[in-house]
Amino acid sequence: MASLPKLTVLVLNFYFWANFMSCNVVSQPVLNMVEQEAVYNVLESINFDVPWRSLFPDDLCSSSPHGVLCDYFVLQDNNNNNSTFTAHVTEISLGYVSDYAPNPPCTPKSTLNASLFAPFGYLRKIFVYKCFVKNEVSLFDFGSLPESLEELVFMENPGLVGSLSDKVGNLMSLRRLVLSGSGVKGKIPYGLGSLVNLEQLSLSRNKISGEIPVGVMTLKKLKVLDLSQNELGGAVNESIGNLTQLLKLDLSYNRLCGGIPENLKGLKSLEFLDLSYNSFFNCGVPLFLGEMHSLREVYLSGNFLGGEIPEIWENLGGIVGIGLSRTGLIGNIPASMGVYLKKICYLGLDNNKLEGTLPEEFGALEYVNELYLENNNLSGRLPFSAKFVSKVGQKLKLEGNPQLCADEGLRISNVSVSLRLLKMCNNNAVVPNSVQFSGASLVLLPASHVVIFLGISFLLC
Ligand SMILES: *[C@@H]1O[C@H](CO)[C@@H](O)[C@H](O)[C@H]1NC(C)=O
Ligand SMILES: *[C@@H]1O[C@H](CO)[C@@H](O)[C@H](O)[C@H]1NC(C)=O
Ligand SMILES: *[C@@H]1O[C@H](CO)[C@@H](O)[C@H](O)[C@H]1NC(C)=O
Ligand SMILES: *[C@@H]1O[C@H](CO)[C@@H](O)[C@H](O)[C@H]1NC(C)=O
Ligand SMILES: *[C@@H]1O[C@H](CO)[C@@H](O)[C@H](O)[C@H]1NC(C)=O
Ligand SMILES: *[C@@H]1O[C@H](CO)[C@@H](O)[C@H](O)[C@H]1NC(C)=O
Ligand SMILES: *[C@@H]1O[C@H](CO)[C@@H](O)[C@H](O)[C@H]1NC(C)=O
Repeated sequence: MASLPKLTVLVLNFYFWANFMSCNVVSQPVLNMVEQEAVYNVLESINFDVPWRSLFPDDLCSSSPHGVLCDYFVLQDNNNNNSTFTAHVTEISLGYVSDYAPNPPCTPKSTLNASLFAPFGYLRKIFVYKCFVKNEVSLFDFGSLPESLEELVFMENPGLVGSLSDKVGNLMSLRRLVLSGSGVKGKIPYGLGSLVNLEQLSLSRNKISGEIPVGVMTLKKLKVLDLSQNELGGAVNESIGNLTQLLKLDLSYNRLCGGIPENLKGLKSLEFLDLSYNSFFNCGVPLFLGEMHSLREVYLSGNFLGGEIPEIWENLGGIVGIGLSRTGLIGNIPASMGVYLKKICYLGLDNNKLEGTLPEEFGALEYVNELYLENNNLSGRLPFSAKFVSKVGQKLKLEGNPQLCADEGLRISNVSVSLRLLKMCNNNAVVPNSVQFSGASLVLLPASHVVIFLGISFLLC
């Protein structure tokens, strides 16, 4: 690969370049013929129907199709002050995204391979969107792409098939590797562990199998790790807790098993955690979630957790989404969820074995727009106003709770089919719903299934 000569390389921004030109009589450098020709070859490879050479006959750094970007570089010799100015292609984006990003459009005959990019010694980014949909193209050897690459982004290319090789580890400058919605099979290569500068690894929606290699857990700069919707199996190594910069961890819809690693609690910056629909087995909802104060979304649905919903919500007031559907939960829904989770928009507790009444506090949750409680064994009167019910509308799901009742006024409102399926509250037999609060200690009265908290301080705020 084109390694840079022993010269200091400065990238000139355009402003600096313009200033420089105004006091030095130098003409703007043109793209060298090798790169110019290589751009045409890439464009023709993805779309042979467009006459690229006649549409863009001039220097491609001065007048290029959308999606081809250049930068100007000055090479400065440290010994004799001799400077040379050059232009190089730094970004190539392929596949029409929108009128705001009208990249060169792909066709059903589009192809692409690594050797087409070999002449671009300064290339920092390749972006390919919906180029291989019905046309099958084998995943070329990423390892032979230019080593200067910092971003390699392939999105929605289901026809891109094959497996990742260990050689991807050659791309040492890579900060983003995105290969989502492709037909990639096989294992995650161990060589990925060499990409020490990687900040984003997104391999979602492929057919990747095997375990998550421990090498991935050495990538200390990772901020986004998204391996969702693949066929990954095995346990997640505790070293996942070493990725302390992570903001987003999505391992949902795989076949991962074993316990939910306790070390996840080391991810103090984590905002998004999705482990849903795997085969994780845990003794209850992990208590350490209560120490992950940056969390905004946490989804654990479709794993067997079991146990009661713990009282861990006190420091999680930033949470907007919680998914605990189909997790084998038993017992009552703690009022503390309604007390502390003031910003919650999405709450899924459906298809569990939850019982008791719905906490009054849920009716005061201002931002809720999806609330799934169906198929539990909840009882008593709904604590919701007509306003709340009409706001959440069809995304309020309550059916399959035979003991739950709604006041007549709510039932006849046409906003939610779910409400009409509930029985009407019998005013004489209504379970008193006065829920009072006292720190975290709760007393369960088995006879009435009413959770009683002592003291009311939190209710007043
Ligand atoms: C390089 O620049 C320095 C300071 O501007 C000057 O003293 C020196 O003579 C220059 N060298 C050459 C080979 O021009
Ligand atoms: C400066 O660079 C140019 C182009 O690379 C070269 O032709 C020239 O001989 C160099 N001059 C010196 C003094 O090194
Ligand atoms: C890559 O594609 C170019 C142009 O389509 C073709 O000429 C070349 O043979 C291909 N190389 C490989 C290794 O497939
Ligand atoms: C994670 O960190 C621990 C403690 O520093 C270390 O022993 C372990 O080897 C690290 N794991 C990986 C995969 O680097
Ligand atoms: C996790 O990875 C480390 C480092 O490779 C290894 O020593 C350890 O056995 C692994 N733990 C499990 C549970 O596989
Ligand atoms: C549902 O809760 C009621 C009390 O409200 C209880 O009698 C019944 O056994 C529970 N049903 C199931 C299936 O757990
Ligand atoms: C609810 O919808 C039914 C038909 O689906 C209609 O007959 C009834 O008048 C509606 N009720 C209200 C209060 O809008």
